[in-house]
Amino acid sequence: MFVEVLWSNMVERRSILLLLLLLDSVSQQWAFPFSPSLDLDVTPRTTVFSTGVTGSARFIGRSRNYSTLLLEEEAGLLFVGGRGAVYALNCSNISSPIKPPIDWDASPEQKKLCLNKGRDNQTQCYNHIRFLQRYNETHLYACGTNAFRPLCAFIDAERFRLSGGLDDGRDRCPYDPAKGFTGLLVDGEMFTASQYEFRSSPDIRRNFPFPTLRTEEAPTRWLLEADFVGSVLLRESINSSTGDDDKIYFFFTERSQEQAAYPSQTRVARVARVCKGDWGGQRTLQRKWTSFLKARLLCSVPEYELHLNVLRSVFVLRATDAGSSVLFAVFGLEWKNIKASAICHYTFSQVQQVFEGPFMEVQDSKWREFTGKVPEPRPGSCIADRHRAQGINSSRDLPDNVLTFARRHPLMASQVQPVGVRPLMFKRSVNYVKIAVHQEAALDGTVYTVLFLGTDDGWLHRAVDIHGEMHIMEELQLFDNQEPIESLTISSSLRSLYLGSSSALVQVPMSSCSRYDSCYDCVFARDPFCGWDGKVCVEVWSRSQRSNLTQDVSRGTRGCKENSGNALHRRRSVLAGDDVLLQCELRSNLATPRWTLNGRELRGLGPTSGYRLGSDGLLILGARAEHSGSYRCFAVENAVSVLLRLYSVSVHSEPLPPPTADALPPAASSPVQLPSTGGATERPPPSPTTTMPPLDDLLTSSRLEALYLPLVGVLGGLCLVLTVVLIYISCCSSRATGNRKLSQQQGLQVLGASERKRSSYLELRTISGHCNGRQERRSLSSPSFDCLGDDFFQVLPGSMSPPPAPPLPTPPPPPSADYANGLSATLPGVLRKMNSSGGSYVLLRQGDQQGAPPLYHSFTEELNRILEQRNHSQLDLLTEQSSV
Ligand SMILES: *[C@@H]1O[C@H](CO)[C@@H](O)[C@H](O)[C@H]1NC(C)=O
Ligand SMILES: *[C@@H]1O[C@H](CO)[C@@H](O)[C@H](O)[C@H]1NC(C)=O
Ligand SMILES: *[C@@H]1O[C@H](CO)[C@@H](O)[C@H](O)[C@H]1NC(C)=O
Ligand SMILES: *[C@@H]1O[C@H](CO)[C@@H](O)[C@H](O)[C@H]1NC(C)=O
Ligand SMILES: *[C@@H]1O[C@H](CO)[C@@H](O)[C@H](O)[C@H]1NC(C)=O
Ligand SMILES: *[C@@H]1O[C@H](CO)[C@@H](O)[C@H](O)[C@H]1NC(C)=O
Repeated sequence: MFVEVLWSNMVERRSILLLLLLLDSVSQQWAFPFSPSLDLDVTPRTTVFSTGVTGSARFIGRSRNYSTLLLEEEAGLLFVGGRGAVYALNCSNISSPIKPPIDWDASPEQKKLCLNKGRDNQTQCYNHIRFLQRYNETHLYACGTNAFRPLCAFIDAERFRLSGGLDDGRDRCPYDPAKGFTGLLVDGEMFTASQYEFRSSPDIRRNFPFPTLRTEEAPTRWLLEADFVGSVLLRESINSSTGDDDKIYFFFTERSQEQAAYPSQTRVARVARVCKGDWGGQRTLQRKWTSFLKARLLCSVPEYELHLNVLRSVFVLRATDAGSSVLFAVFGLEWKNIKASAICHYTFSQVQQVFEGPFMEVQDSKWREFTGKVPEPRPGSCIADRHRAQGINSSRDLPDNVLTFARRHPLMASQVQPVGVRPLMFKRSVNYVKIAVHQEAALDGTVYTVLFLGTDDGWLHRAVDIHGEMHIMEELQLFDNQEPIESLTISSSLRSLYLGSSSALVQVPMSSCSRYDSCYDCVFARDPFCGWDGKVCVEVWSRSQRSNLTQDVSRGTRGCKENSGNALHRRRSVLAGDDVLLQCELRSNLATPRWTLNGRELRGLGPTSGYRLGSDGLLILGARAEHSGSYRCFAVENAVSVLLRLYSVSVHSEPLPPPTADALPPAASSPVQLPSTGGATERPPPSPTTTMPPLDDLLTSSRLEALYLPLVGVLGGLCLVLTVVLIYISCCSSRATGNRKLSQQQGLQVLGASERKRSSYLELRTISGHCNGRQERRSLSSPSFDCLGDDFFQVLPGSMSPPPAPPLPTPPPPPSADYANGLSATLPGVLRKMNSSGGSYVLLRQGDQQGAPPLYHSFTEELNRILEQRNHSQLDLLTEQSSV
């Protein structure tokens, strides 16, 4: 006994350890002793901020919580249930309603009663529409929580108003707007599943017609604290050779009855099913389901014995025959404070097989597989031809022994394994909460499965299954306030997605190919919707002539001609000893930078090399004569190198004369200007905001004035540091998720970008002046940084490409030997953005910044302290929860 406890403790600890490793630091910086075959942190290729989302339409009504959607594609309508209102929108553009909304809120008296019951007047004491479905050709049926006294009503869809009286909704809609709930209206019959009333046990019901049916509570409780996320009707009677019935499947998480592998894992994901033609039993199981069966849905990462037990969302991709339909499910961990998601998929033939398999039974108050004789006809099955052959025409004709068995054996012994016996995708640091799936035929003739995943902080991920590997093409920020996606529905014919949150409803196209702005971008994206037509990236379906389109979903490499014509060319003339930043932003989070000098690869960028490599450029430290030459920056993605920038750097030992026109690059609107302390050769943009002497003067006038420079720099740096700290603190507190835990030895990594995968190249992220999410960024070859009015740079946690970050301290040693030393070396000169409107840079010489190191250290400490606190609270919570 003792040994058993000890053992289970050890196993438990191991799993927690693995979990910690898995979730927090490892997969980026630390190689597992064995190589995982599942990518544990799929990186979205591109990050699109809300200002860069194109082709979308938005609807904001008077209410909030747009959580119930009913899409009727043929009629071109999207019905929306919100808080206290129902809307009818045009599904080709939801921004303006077709009909005035139905205002249907709880009465003031009801709200008062709700308040008196101690409910939250901000969220709960309203009529939250939870159910909205088509009843017949002319009417919809809707139910709302009505400030904790649910009501239901018919809606005349044509005139769009409530029709007839209000029904008591207590047996068909939950009281609590946040309780898990699912329901279907099928052929005039209503099926729902929820925990309806406060303190009542959860139930799966047929609400009408008479007789109503429910689940059994004694002696065997069929559902334990079930939290429902979805349901689906499969018409299994169609073309059935056995005269089978249609079935309704319910998906939920419940408290585990079986012995758990780990004591901390108390919940399991389930699929349950009932037959649509069930009428309950005659004496036994009267007004109860005779066909209720449930089974566990498994979703585990086998290498780590990591079980994802909490079901968050499901989507069923229907096929012509029910068995080939596929269930896609989003799972999370039981520990609410750890963000992680897995997507598993299952075929319904597998689910059906499990329901045909052995039963579980309680023996000595433990659930074990039942090995005795199962009565005939098989308990839990629908009434089919073989029943009718025995004179059993309905569930009421079933013999008592069969019903008694069914009553005590609701649980199947086998578990439903996902296709491939592993998740399709695992993503740490992200909580997916809604899923929709679409299949798109690509130009290579393959039909690709595209997943649309809504997060709990207002983002949408578009991912494609490429021969069993998930590739996230884009992450899109749809809601600025980090609101969870509350609803998601998909129109395959309009190729549109509709996503509701607490503040708005958004319609976005399934693809926005025009965001890919070069042939390489279009092809590397591996987006089955998009092809390059020689000039622009277009939606393949929009073209009837497709032979001239270039697309390579399966590899993402082929089809583009070598074309370095767009690469931007810049000159840099600097004084020996200066630090120079050669800017080169990578648009894709999956690309890695590659630099050559005079055609030779720049390798081994160690501390003695005089270079630092960053995600947004190359830094030359203390330029020497041998640093002169022609630099090329390439983005390497899918093993293809694409030239982005050319720099001609000349290092002079004598100060140069004041800048002349000939040193200017051809384009007047040149992007990043990089004057350096000694030899500014490019015209810095005007600096309207500062009271400091203009940069030009400082840089070009007498050496004496250069004495001010350190002072100015220190003050500027101080301001900058304070701003960053403030912004960062506010960001942290508004996003208290701890999803980017950084360990102390690692020091601060890239702020806000640390969770991305580019890590081994990412030791340095300089302060750059481009605009977050601006569309201007879309241009690969000519990024424009003239974001006038964008006076502050932002630190955006959880965002990748654009967020500029403060100076970085010692980064962690990466796995790659090439960069190892360079990364752990001391910090390069501090970059400071001096002119916010023009995005110019001044790089102070290391020798110049006497004041900087202490400043810098306190900055590090400050941020480390914040992160440390987050660490601890996270760890505490974890142990607290896991010791339950
Ligand atoms: C939807 O309609 C609004 C207003 O009519 C318009 O501004 C918007 O561009 C339209 N959006 C789409 C995607 O058609
Ligand atoms: C929806 O809007 C489109 C144009 O955006 C229009 O052609 C169509 O008639 C509208 N549908 C309804 C039902 O009003
Ligand atoms: C909710 O109650 C608080 C205090 O009880 C009150 O200040 C607030 O105005 C109420 N809000 C609404 C929407 O009724
Ligand atoms: C649909 O149902 C409603 C409510 O029961 C009823 O009033 C209406 O006549 C029905 N319509 C049709 C076409 O059957
Ligand atoms: C409704 O929106 C509010 C924010 O406006 C949010 O706090 C609440 O959780 C939402 N309710 C549901 C049921 O999603
Ligand atoms: C079942 O239906 C068949 C044919 O309709 C009928 O002959 C038989 O008596 C019915 N059995 C029961 C038990 O009602």
